[in-house]
Amino acid sequence: MANGLDDVVAADTVLSDVDGAGGHLTIRGHSLTELAGHWRYGQVVRLLFDGFFDELPGDAELEKAIGSARTDVFERLQPMLGQLAPLDIYSAMRAGIALLPDGEALADALRLVAAPAVLTPALLRLTRGEKPLPPDARADHAADMLKMLGGPSTPALAKALDTYLVTVCDHGLNASTFATRVVASTQAGLTSAILAGLGALKGPLHGGAPGPVIEMLDAIKASGDAAAWLRGEIARGERIMGFGHRIYRVRDPRADVLKAVVRRLGSRKDTGSRETGSRLAFAETVEQTALDVLRVAKPQRSIQTNVEFYTALLLEAAGFPKEAFSNVFAAGRVAGWIAHAREQQATGRLIRPQSRYVGPVPDLVA
Ligand code: CMC
Repeated sequence: MANGLDDVVAADTVLSDVDGAGGHLTIRGHSLTELAGHWRYGQVVRLLFDGFFDELPGDAELEKAIGSARTDVFERLQPMLGQLAPLDIYSAMRAGIALLPDGEALADALRLVAAPAVLTPALLRLTRGEKPLPPDARADHAADMLKMLGGPSTPALAKALDTYLVTVCDHGLNASTFATRVVASTQAGLTSAILAGLGALKGPLHGGAPGPVIEMLDAIKASGDAAAWLRGEIARGERIMGFGHRIYRVRDPRADVLKAVVRRLGSRKDTGSRETGSRLAFAETVEQTALDVLRVAKPQRSIQTNVEFYTALLLEAAGFPKEAFSNVFAAGRVAGWIAHAREQQATGRLIRPQSRYVGPVPDLVA
């Protein structure tokens, strides 16, 4: 068995397939490019939940129900937000989600879908000394996230954020999805399972990378020499954030989808587009330099751009500060976690692997 379980297939799933050699992502029978930019997040939630909940309504009804769930979450958690806000934004969101009922019904699932989208803007506003803005239950999910944030919320930005949420909604048996399925296999409630996913997502080797991508771009800009900066990091044993993947040996297809979104934003005449355009141009140069440096430094491994590199640019353009990028990742991935939790319960058994004991043995004579 490989350290890191690379060679272990731990679940059968109908939800998504990551083709690491071909660079393709399939989500429930649809290619990523078929969904991203074409389906709204609410529609993808329905696609993922289909068959895993009794009485799932149609697209329009489900999107309305997600809107009502945003209002429900806001009303339930608003009294506690002041106590959560001093924590770092990811821990504050996780703590808020932990306060939600730990049930198995569709209503419980929709509250969990709504929670990161509601908590993240509310907590960001509180940390800036501003009052949280309540959700608009009739608005589109991504557009409402931007409205609750209170910054610029053009249709183009809302569409960009919606495309992002769809792009990251599910991705095979990644670390957070596996953690979610382990907890779901014990028949703990959905909130418990989602909290496991949130814990795993936080780390920089998984969903915590896009904030550090911005720090890297800023540090490289300040240094004035991308190649030297990147070589220095690798010489110190550091990882280059936004590059490499356990499954993809070619470019992560999500990176291209998100890059195209950022390019479209950068070419618009809306506020902020000029900064987005020049940020993108700089990032593209850094990306190419990083790929060249990694090819020389790690010739035995194909290390390519992953989803987090262009996630960072997209979420920055949408008005989120880098500390909140992983929260927004969670706002997209939560639908996949819930579907996997339900699938695990419907088709799987308790997940309980074994370990090999390599510690000292007791002295049996004494
Ligand atoms: N920068 C420098 N070296 C790297 C990188 C990187 N980004 N990625 C892999 N390597 C090297 C690593 O140092 C090791 O080298 P050596 O054999 O000389 O010790 C070799 O590649 C294999 O490393 P590994 O950790 O066994 O490889 P992995 O393919 O399992 O790693 C990864 C996957 C995502 C943990 C890793 O590529 C990484 O740390 N990337 C940077 C963080 C990042 O971008 N995370 C977001 C991942 S994508 C979001 C998601 O889908 O979860």
